[in-house]
Amino acid sequence: QLRMGRSNTFAYVMLDATNPFFTDVARGIELAAEKADLSLFLCNSDGRGPREAAHLAHLQQHRVDGLLITPVDPDSPELARVVQHGTPLVVVDRATTSRSFCSVTVDDRLGGRIAIEHLLDQGHTKVAFIGGPSSIGQIRDRFDGACDAWREAGLPETDLLRVETETLSVQEGLVAGERLAGLPRRKRPTAAFCANDLVALGLLQQAISSGQRVPEDIAIVGYDDIAFAAGAAVPLSSVRQPRQNLGRAAADLLIDEVNNPEHEHQQVEFTPELIARTSTLG
Ligand code: RIB
Repeated sequence: QLRMGRSNTFAYVMLDATNPFFTDVARGIELAAEKADLSLFLCNSDGRGPREAAHLAHLQQHRVDGLLITPVDPDSPELARVVQHGTPLVVVDRATTSRSFCSVTVDDRLGGRIAIEHLLDQGHTKVAFIGGPSSIGQIRDRFDGACDAWREAGLPETDLLRVETETLSVQEGLVAGERLAGLPRRKRPTAAFCANDLVALGLLQQAISSGQRVPEDIAIVGYDDIAFAAGAAVPLSSVRQPRQNLGRAAADLLIDEVNNPEHEHQQVEFTPELIARTSTLG
């Protein structure tokens, strides 16, 4: 429970309500909010800046006590304006250069590294990185981490093939799979590291429906470890992000900011973990 004169409500503006990663984060926020006797409003920006701005304006009009957001652009002046207006804000799952609010992230560069190290351990020397757009800092970090591991293994840069997608969706994974299948056999990667699980599940579906064996013809690693990864037709290896804990930690920081006059903004970073399953182990 917050102090007197509060509305006892928080809100989370998520980036993509179709991605179970964000509903898991929301669940973590909700659990922490419930423990503190707070209600939570959920909004979805759908990755669109104007939609996000409209949500922020409405929520401030409704005098929520604090806002959590996975923003379209973590460095947008819109977020600074929310803080200037006096509403406490925590950025969830996006790194930001601003130090005027708290943020909770996962070390994505390490995540990219451990995914590739796992594929190298399985003997792969021609790998595709599938994801995008590279305007998202996290996608860049996951790719950079993959490149770090690749370079350290002394493999030619050209054998880490980058397949850029417009978004992170099952459909984009299907299309990327078709592109890979169209390559001449000698150029075709034997494994793919996908920037999230939705893309990996699309790729897996394309591989199975075109008669490829996973992992014998193509090994696949995703990112997030959403529940559908373990339950896929071929259980999917994935880089696990502590999704609920991310939400919980963000909500706890916000509760502290609202209640504690001594509050100091913090940038909290979690560590990802590789979960190896049949899609890479056989
Ligand atoms: O942009 C969506 C992605 O970012 C999610 O799938 C998850 O990986 C998050 O970190």
